[in-house]
Amino acid sequence: MKTYIVGNWKLNFTVGEASIYLHKLLKAIPNYRDTEVVVAPSLIALQPLSLQVDRHKMKLAAQNGFYRDYGAFTGEVSFSQLRGIVDYAIVGHSERRYILREDDKMIAKKVAAAIRNKIKPILCIGETEGERAFGETKDVIRDQLLGGLSEIGDDMVDKVIIAYEPVWAISSGKEAKLAAPDEISEVVKLIRKVLTDTYGKKVAENVPVLFGGSVNPSNAGAYLTVPGVNGLLVGGASLILSEFTDIIETAKRVRA
Ligand code: 13P
Repeated sequence: MKTYIVGNWKLNFTVGEASIYLHKLLKAIPNYRDTEVVVAPSLIALQPLSLQVDRHKMKLAAQNGFYRDYGAFTGEVSFSQLRGIVDYAIVGHSERRYILREDDKMIAKKVAAAIRNKIKPILCIGETEGERAFGETKDVIRDQLLGGLSEIGDDMVDKVIIAYEPVWAISSGKEAKLAAPDEISEVVKLIRKVLTDTYGKKVAENVPVLFGGSVNPSNAGAYLTVPGVNGLLVGGASLILSEFTDIIETAKRVRA
């Protein structure tokens, strides 16, 4: 399986800044065969960047998309409109769950819409600090995982990437803490167990599981060596070219 390094730019960079960053990133990285580098710029930058990107080197992801293909949905952009522009889409990020009130039902429809439009969804799941403190991590992970996959057929599950992002470890969180490799390992094992029990071993083995939450060049190596982790979803550090390229090089080194 490839190693995925995905940069989530969130609400940062103008279109011009995004284009300059992409230009520098393309110059800075060689063509890594086993490492899939992906960046998720703002929606408005996706179309111009899709003309600029070298898809042999890296791919683009949307940070969101709407679950209906067309119709009276003011302000939304559908996965059918994103088709051909992006290869991936982040779905169910905690900032959309908690700030924009997306629930598992809506997220499940988005996962299905992305797949229907040949876009690989990166389904984000993760518990809050309070849920962890109350011992609810297992239930939350199980509910968000199976809830998010509930609108697609069992034969489509291995078209999805899962990103485990504990909300308490995301650096924009008020008091973000670093997740310990042991804590990540435990949840990644649980994700694979739920996938195995529900969809079978073969499917579970083929679903990449990424980790995200305050990933930076100094912890990327440790996170990438957590058993069962197939890549990283990087927020803040992906906005700084030298840090992001450092993380990409770490992925290459860890694999070698
Ligand atoms: P940080 O890397 O800034 O903690 O963000 C993580 C994240 O939310 C990526 O989707």
